[in-house]
Amino acid sequence: MVVVSGGMNQQRNQIVDAVVIARILEAALVVPIFQVNPIWADESEFSDIFNLDHFKNVLGNDVRIVSSLPSTHVMTRPVEEKRTPLHASPQWIRSHYTRKLRRDGVLLLRGLDSRLSKDLPSDLQKLRCKVTFHALRFNPSILELGNKLTERMRSKGPFLALHLRMEKDVWVRTGCLPGLSHEYDEMINNERKRRPDLLTSRSNITYHERKLAGLCPLNALEVTRLIKALGAPKGARIYWAGGTPFGGKETLQPLTKEFPHFYNKEDLALPGELETFSKKASLMAAIDYIVCENSDVFMPSHGGNMGHAIQGHRAYAGHKKTITPNKRQMLPHFLNSSLSESEFNKIILDLHKDSLGQPDLRKRGRDVTKYPVPECMCNSTTIHSSM
Ligand SMILES: *[C@@H]1O[C@H](CO)[C@@H](O)[C@H](O)[C@H]1NC(C)=O
Ligand SMILES: *[C@@H]1O[C@H](CO)[C@@H](O)[C@H](O)[C@H]1NC(C)=O
Ligand SMILES: *[C@@H]1O[C@H](CO)[C@@H](O)[C@H](O)[C@H]1NC(C)=O
Repeated sequence: MVVVSGGMNQQRNQIVDAVVIARILEAALVVPIFQVNPIWADESEFSDIFNLDHFKNVLGNDVRIVSSLPSTHVMTRPVEEKRTPLHASPQWIRSHYTRKLRRDGVLLLRGLDSRLSKDLPSDLQKLRCKVTFHALRFNPSILELGNKLTERMRSKGPFLALHLRMEKDVWVRTGCLPGLSHEYDEMINNERKRRPDLLTSRSNITYHERKLAGLCPLNALEVTRLIKALGAPKGARIYWAGGTPFGGKETLQPLTKEFPHFYNKEDLALPGELETFSKKASLMAAIDYIVCENSDVFMPSHGGNMGHAIQGHRAYAGHKKTITPNKRQMLPHFLNSSLSESEFNKIILDLHKDSLGQPDLRKRGRDVTKYPVPECMCNSTTIHSSM
């Protein structure tokens, strides 16, 4: 049994690793239990988000998945295992859990984030790919709405999808400032003083150093300058994913002024369509995921689980373009007011030449779900030579 926590994409990562761990232990997996998230207070369960039958069917030959503990085990009080070390190897998993599992019949795992090594033998790595890109499919009602919104964007031509990270909790957690006005920056500073525990970034550097090191999400003005420099014309159709920005929608004005065809799910949905989803952060994130995954070009304004998952999905689906802002290198140019617009645009375009090309290959230690090439792909060399 596993309890998965965090936002939808974080839960997704933990489900992928839970399947692989079950496989390593040759154990059946109980459908993962979703812990209610304290930030988003979303009580969705696995089958509210994902298609459970599909999940079971696709993985049928790899891991047996059961909906609940069998009656022979319900009386067992499972021993909770929270101490799986970071990046544990399959050998570690086997040697520490096999005996316990045999003895107790049930093993309960929690906090699986990045617990399983990113570097696994090829068969287990391929299982990761299979869970990520084939078994985890959103449930039909989410998929239907996500596809409808995609169609509404697509009906007038190609579109760009942006994942904007400008919500209040993002500024607080990253130790960054939205840079809207002194007043808003002070609100974030005060919140951070009240809740120092929320900071996930290194605490011994100043906001300015953090910004220059490329550790801050881009704000609306920076995103506007970046995509303009990369050649987005005024008529570009843009979908933006993400929650309401801190400071409200006015915050997005630099973008909406420059790009009048600028929409999010609320703008595209017909009255009532979003109603059953709108109180659930995970379902809203899933709808954004679908539209972003299907866009012609995708750009996240900051790293994070959702951006990574979509980048991986797009690479797997056939090298669909993902632009990763080169924040560390571009920020000094954003601050240089003596650059002309054309000089600025040329520099920014040059800095992104690589990310406009083929997807990066996975290197050791990298997550195969973000960099699926080459491990997740069929090896065409092998196919041809065996024919
Ligand atoms: C800040 O802390 C990190 C480790 O948390 C350390 O590697 C780094 O050198 C420190 N930087 C400064 C400027 O003290
Ligand atoms: C700002 O841009 C000007 C014009 O290209 C350049 O000469 C100058 O070195 C830049 N300043 C910084 C701090 O990069
Ligand atoms: C593909 O298969 C060939 C022949 O078996 C092998 O030499 C090559 O390394 C494989 N490539 C990848 C990316 O796995």
